[in-house]
Amino acid sequence: MSERPFTDELLTALAREHGTPLFVYDAATVRARVEELAGHFDVVRYAQKANGNLALLRLVRAAGCAVDAVSAGEVERALAAGFAPEEIVFTSDLFDRAALETLRAHPAVRVNLGSADMLPAYAALGVGREVWLRVNPGFGSGHGRKVTTGGEHSKHGLWHADLARTVAEARALGLEVTGLHVHIGSGAELGRLLEAARAVRELAPRVGRSLAVLSAGGGLPIPYRPGEERPDVARLARGWRGVQRELERELDRPLALELEPGRYLVAEAGVLVTEVRGTKRNGALDFALVDAGFHNLARPALYGAYHAITALGAARERASALQVVAGPLCESADVFTQDAAGNPVPRLLPRLVAGDLVCLHDAGAYGSAMGSNYNSQPRAAEVLVEGGMGRLVRRRERPEELWRAELEP
Ligand code: LLP
Repeated sequence: MSERPFTDELLTALAREHGTPLFVYDAATVRARVEELAGHFDVVRYAQKANGNLALLRLVRAAGCAVDAVSAGEVERALAAGFAPEEIVFTSDLFDRAALETLRAHPAVRVNLGSADMLPAYAALGVGREVWLRVNPGFGSGHGRKVTTGGEHSKHGLWHADLARTVAEARALGLEVTGLHVHIGSGAELGRLLEAARAVRELAPRVGRSLAVLSAGGGLPIPYRPGEERPDVARLARGWRGVQRELERELDRPLALELEPGRYLVAEAGVLVTEVRGTKRNGALDFALVDAGFHNLARPALYGAYHAITALGAARERASALQVVAGPLCESADVFTQDAAGNPVPRLLPRLVAGDLVCLHDAGAYGSAMGSNYNSQPRAAEVLVEGGMGRLVRRRERPEELWRAELEP
């Protein structure tokens, strides 16, 4: 669990001004993470899927990041934030029609292909000769099976044994493989991320001297629970730098080393502030009912993910009790304190009462980005704090915006 980067007073004032549920992000935390990683890797490529808010994209761009995009929408979003097409890599295992249109319109966007049958489609577009290949090394690691992207059960990446054949296919189509990319999962174990480096060490010679970039992918974990440690980024970088140097010697050419983090850059910078609207006891469980739900932060409902919860202001001083924290949605999965099997897990928190403000920690990654309008809930507002001042970077949706795209019969 990360300490909140904000005072109770600031969060309370922002909640009063903008209402709840409210995401609040700290610019300084994001910059510090970018700086840390930039000290170890040649390129830090932000995986915007973690949080694509334009203000955050502009912030990481100004801090020196390149950007990853996994859909036509993410390419357009990155362009809207000011990234140049050549700073964007489009990563996918398929081309949907919108992606092909976008690549046609922006030929300088580079592509990282996870399936061999994308090669003829890209060649047919006629927009560029260079491609990266995303390889599945045959193993993966993640905070859960749903986010483990390497190994046989995963749809992602080019199977490692097929790499040499795919490189030959690319050449036959007049394409050049200039990048080799691996991403084995999200919230991965450091040891497995280092194994992925060794797998790339073995595989890269099959690409040969056209290779210019190695991408270590993303997947760095962050400490969500109290007592959890930060990952040893320097150790990860040493492993990858060693692989980079060996390959540079063997291929007799310079290689750039990229990291593609999402969560690591933004998770700890964000909190989700929510108001307790009521309390009740059902059987043996005490519930605190808050105005945020899995339409704002889906991770507990989807993965049984743990997010630390703290109360703001005077509520902090109250005696503690075991409580289940749940949201407003009309679905029993709408519980922030649950395990991966969906069982509610009461949390020891100050005895909450209606009107209290609480915040869910480490909500900057995969919170707002995975938000929805389920139950016709408007998306939460978002504030970016810089130099102690909060700036609204997404306003709360208005009800009529929820059905704007629907046509009358
Ligand atoms: N690169 C690729 C190709 C990816 O698929 C991902 C994440 C990343 C980079 C960034 O991974 P990160 O550094 O954030 O771990 N919704 C889930 C996480 C899904 C990640 C999907 N791909 C969660 O809330 O934990």
